[in-house]
Amino acid sequence: MAPTVSNPSMNNKPIAHIHVDNIQANLDLACDKSPGSKTMAVIKANAYGHGLELVAPRLKGMDAFAVARVAEGLALRTLGIDIPIYILQGFLGESELVQCADSQLIPMIHSTDQWQLLSATETKLKVWLKFDSGMHRLGLTEAELDMILKSPGGLSVLGVASHFANADDPSHEENHDQLDVFRTTTDQLSCEKSMANSGAILGLSASHYDWVRPGIMLYGGSSSGYPDPRLKPGMTLTAPVLAVRSVAAGESIGYGSTWRANSAARIAVLGIGYADGYPRELPPETPVVIGGERCSIVGRVSMDMVMVELPAKLEVRTGDRVEMWGNQLSIDEVAAHIGTLGYTLMSSLTARVERRLFSPPSEAKIEAGFDNSEKH
Ligand SMILES: Cc1ncc(COP(=O)(O)O)c(C=O)c1O
Repeated sequence: MAPTVSNPSMNNKPIAHIHVDNIQANLDLACDKSPGSKTMAVIKANAYGHGLELVAPRLKGMDAFAVARVAEGLALRTLGIDIPIYILQGFLGESELVQCADSQLIPMIHSTDQWQLLSATETKLKVWLKFDSGMHRLGLTEAELDMILKSPGGLSVLGVASHFANADDPSHEENHDQLDVFRTTTDQLSCEKSMANSGAILGLSASHYDWVRPGIMLYGGSSSGYPDPRLKPGMTLTAPVLAVRSVAAGESIGYGSTWRANSAARIAVLGIGYADGYPRELPPETPVVIGGERCSIVGRVSMDMVMVELPAKLEVRTGDRVEMWGNQLSIDEVAAHIGTLGYTLMSSLTARVERRLFSPPSEAKIEAGFDNSEKH
């Protein structure tokens, strides 16, 4: 075994460095692309895994936030956020309805059940209605929408929203069908309207209406799965090198002995695994970046570790930081290795991964290993 020398500035945990400046730049891009619309920044699922408390208080320029669930809206209020907050799934049951009223959250009503519950209480609430224009996930039918809007003493309806099934592919025929349905159904309504998520903001300007709802693009991910050069990464995920080892030709590595060295090889063992959210399904060939160089993972990803084959001349020490995705390696590129999207990877990072604000340049260089060569 080759002896390894420890790096003095060691941190043995995976860290997701959060690039709030990049997220702000992506939000600014969403606003620039839809100049006639207001923006609700979608910050559900812990800001798509980036850390709600790091991201929400630092963003500027949006007119509202949108989250999926009431609990997420309450968490935003606890952080002191005082702009409008939309609840994309509305409330489930009376206690959530009361929470919406108490914390001035604006639910999107997607079913007649929700409407009946609201009508049956004394609670006064401003709401949006979610209309199903063709995705057939959540949403009211045209008849239900009509019935609610015409009901006596009706709700205080601020707007009507709908959601695309195929905004990741702006040329998809069904986008135009959904737009037609939305247009004809809402044409005569004087309330505000909203359809566009990230894909539609970037590729379907006819859908921008009064409010746009950017999500994945804020975090630098593309809904199509192809990295989008206009977007900047919201996080850089790094892991420490736990050990540098040598294997002889013919020796296998890791669970299941799924990878065997063709010739003598140097292997770095990294302290990140599927319990951190680095998926077990990622195959050999998945890239990582060490000291500015791309290397491939080998063997099976285990719960807390993954192995990487090192190029012959690359100097690597224990404690060095390795980029799993982020600044130098697109999260969409990594995701493509298991046929998924950046959405999944970023939102599946577990609580074991520390989220830390990225602070350029010197501290981050030492701690995150963005420039490993400087430490040697
Ligand atoms: C209703 C609604 N609007 C907007 C978004 C944001 O979508 P994207 O992340 O693709 O921009 C989502 C995300 O799932 C959503 O459910």
